[in-house]
Amino acid sequence: MKTKHLYINTIGCQMNVYDSEQIAKGLTVLGYKLTSLPEKADLIIVNTCTIRKKAEQKAFSFLGRMTGLKRKKPDLIIGMGGCVAQQEGQKILQRVPHLDLVFGTNAIGRLPGMIKTITAKKCRIVDIKMSGQIEELDFIEDKHHTGKVSSFVTIMQGCDNYCTYCVVPYVRGRETSRNPDKIINEICGLVESGVREVTLLGQNVNSYGNKEGLCTFPELLARVNEIDGLLRIRFTTSHPKDLSTDLMLAFKDLNKMCNHIHLPIQSGSNRVLKRMNRKYSRKLYLEKIDKLRDICSNMAITSDIIVGFPGETRTDFQETLDLIKKVEFDGLFAFKYSDRPNAAAARFEDKISEKEKKERLQQVLTLQAHFTTQKNKELVGSTQSILVEGLSKKQTRIDKPIINDDVQWTGRTSTNKIVNFSRRDNALSCEQILTGRMVKVRIVKAHSHSLWGEPVSIVPMFLGLRGEKSYVA
Ligand code: SAH
Ligand code: SF4
Ligand code: F3S
Repeated sequence: MKTKHLYINTIGCQMNVYDSEQIAKGLTVLGYKLTSLPEKADLIIVNTCTIRKKAEQKAFSFLGRMTGLKRKKPDLIIGMGGCVAQQEGQKILQRVPHLDLVFGTNAIGRLPGMIKTITAKKCRIVDIKMSGQIEELDFIEDKHHTGKVSSFVTIMQGCDNYCTYCVVPYVRGRETSRNPDKIINEICGLVESGVREVTLLGQNVNSYGNKEGLCTFPELLARVNEIDGLLRIRFTTSHPKDLSTDLMLAFKDLNKMCNHIHLPIQSGSNRVLKRMNRKYSRKLYLEKIDKLRDICSNMAITSDIIVGFPGETRTDFQETLDLIKKVEFDGLFAFKYSDRPNAAAARFEDKISEKEKKERLQQVLTLQAHFTTQKNKELVGSTQSILVEGLSKKQTRIDKPIINDDVQWTGRTSTNKIVNFSRRDNALSCEQILTGRMVKVRIVKAHSHSLWGEPVSIVPMFLGLRGEKSYVA
């Protein structure tokens, strides 16, 4: 089979990152190999997000930039997948004349068939059918070591919560959980290919399995925890209303669970939370945070905030700032409210001006920057176990001779903080790759978004894995 090249541009959340990986794996059956250069590609796919207007615009401006390539290379196939594709469907073909294919969030399994048809018939296709069922993709996992240490695994699709600002239930469909055996099999395959950390994905992982009567989320975590060779487990996102004591206890009881939870609050005002249909109060959120910290004292907590929700008064906004001060989050993602098609809040009155939203966003970011830096500074002097993800951005080539001091590695703490470090001694040969290993690092410096450390020792490898010798410095 002739090798063809596939270029994927992924916009949006971790779920899209996972989907893009599935797309690439699925298309290997047709001989497609990933390229990082769109000019080299025979097939270009943009996997899109529509959570805010800006993300949607990004997809169309990317397609605009591809016009020239299509003119030069008429056989080039260009497709749009993901949440914008699901939302707009057929309309996109009219808007983008050089687009060959529009496929929705449930159509990934049908993609190879569509590409075959387009290649043979030179036609245009739109497939945004929602089956409402999980379609397990049927390809053989490549067990070759890819150098990838951390991987996403989607455990459930869709969402039933209908927060009034949110487009996700309309573009990802109803909440549906994957069979636990399939999830475990997939993770075992990933571990064989060198993955050491998984992040389980769902819009509200805490309701995993409820509808289908599968196991509960904490039970699933316990099963994942048993997988040999896997070192760390993360998950996202947990909805505050469904964060159960059982899940909190899993952080304490399961040795592979990382000490980090992403628990989006969205607003500190009860009035706004109600209008957002979040189904929890500020008080309940704060109580859950307290309980979580009681159970697991060094838990890192991050969150999402929306500023300028329709009708958000200055008093409401002050309550958000006050909550940020009370909780002292390790990190925050803050967004300006954006009207979305179908989402109820798009029809709400009292929209906040762009200027006001901008100012509120800036206030949140400035306040949080203080806490993020403070939390990072608290770690200086401590020793942290880092799962090494690879060479840091400054040093991405390992193929040229390396002088020890040059080598900069990067990884994360259990609390999800980025740590960079270099080896300054001869304890390890330069060629010895630390990627995928746990290294104990003493933190010596805190920056606003990362930490700098000195390696203390390498945590011995678990026995039997790839026959490597363990080493302790
Ligand atoms: N399921 C997750 C969130 C998915 S969307 C949860 O419930 O937490 C990720 C974040 O985007 C949300 O937490 C919210 O803060 C933000 N977001 C969603 N819709 C938005 C909108 N219309 N405008 C601005 N931000 C939005
Ligand atoms: Fe959107 Fe709310 Fe569902 Fe999260 S829980 S995806 S914010 S509707
Ligand atoms: Fe965006 Fe779709 Fe994810 S709208 S945030 S890519 S679920």
